[in-house]
Amino acid sequence: MSQRPVQLVYCSRQRIDPRRLDLELAGIVQASVRNNRASDVTGLLLAHAGWFLQVLEGAPAQLKSTYARIIDDRRHIGCQVLSATPIGERQFGDWNMCARRLTREDDAILGVLALRDRFDPSRFDAKTALGLLLAVRNIRDRLSLNSPVGDAKRAQLSAGKPGSAAQQIPAR
Ligand SMILES: Cc1cc2nc3c(=O)[nH]c(=O)nc-3n(C[C@H](O)[C@H](O)[C@H](O)COP(=O)(O)O)c2cc1C
Repeated sequence: MSQRPVQLVYCSRQRIDPRRLDLELAGIVQASVRNNRASDVTGLLLAHAGWFLQVLEGAPAQLKSTYARIIDDRRHIGCQVLSATPIGERQFGDWNMCARRLTREDDAILGVLALRDRFDPSRFDAKTALGLLLAVRNIRDRLSLNSPVGDAKRAQLSAGKPGSAAQQIPAR
């Protein structure tokens, strides 16, 4: 019997030279898509102001092994779980992984969420963290507002979608 998926949200501090951030993120997305597709994990990774904020969704065992691998990664430190909740339906099921740097164009999102001047995910409650991730998910699908670092839609949705950043990073 398949178990209900779990949604895990965590934050961490980046340990990446800012000049290498795009490159490293592209590598993270590439490995993530490969692994997450194999274990049916989906999610979204945000990079902003020296922080990572990531949501991961999947069956409990798969999520556990994925997160165990992630927290061992030396490109970040201080992983802190903000929420871990069984869910009826995935909210980030469109991507095996998508990474995005928040830029000035995203200022509106931060403004609406009143996070512009105090971006510190370690102090976010679960609702605020998920609200930000969902807001980014919503604009990601509507427009390509700025250059995403990389994403790869799930296999069944990716085929031929014009302008998808999946084209930049080979996902299969
Ligand atoms: C912030 C962050 C998020 C990551 N997210 C994922 C992920 O969702 N899935 C994954 O497999 N690896 C993720 N990684 C990469 C893993 O830490 C690890 O490098 C990778 O899984 C190794 O894969 P490989 O053994 O197939 O090369 C992430 C790394 C960082 C720093």
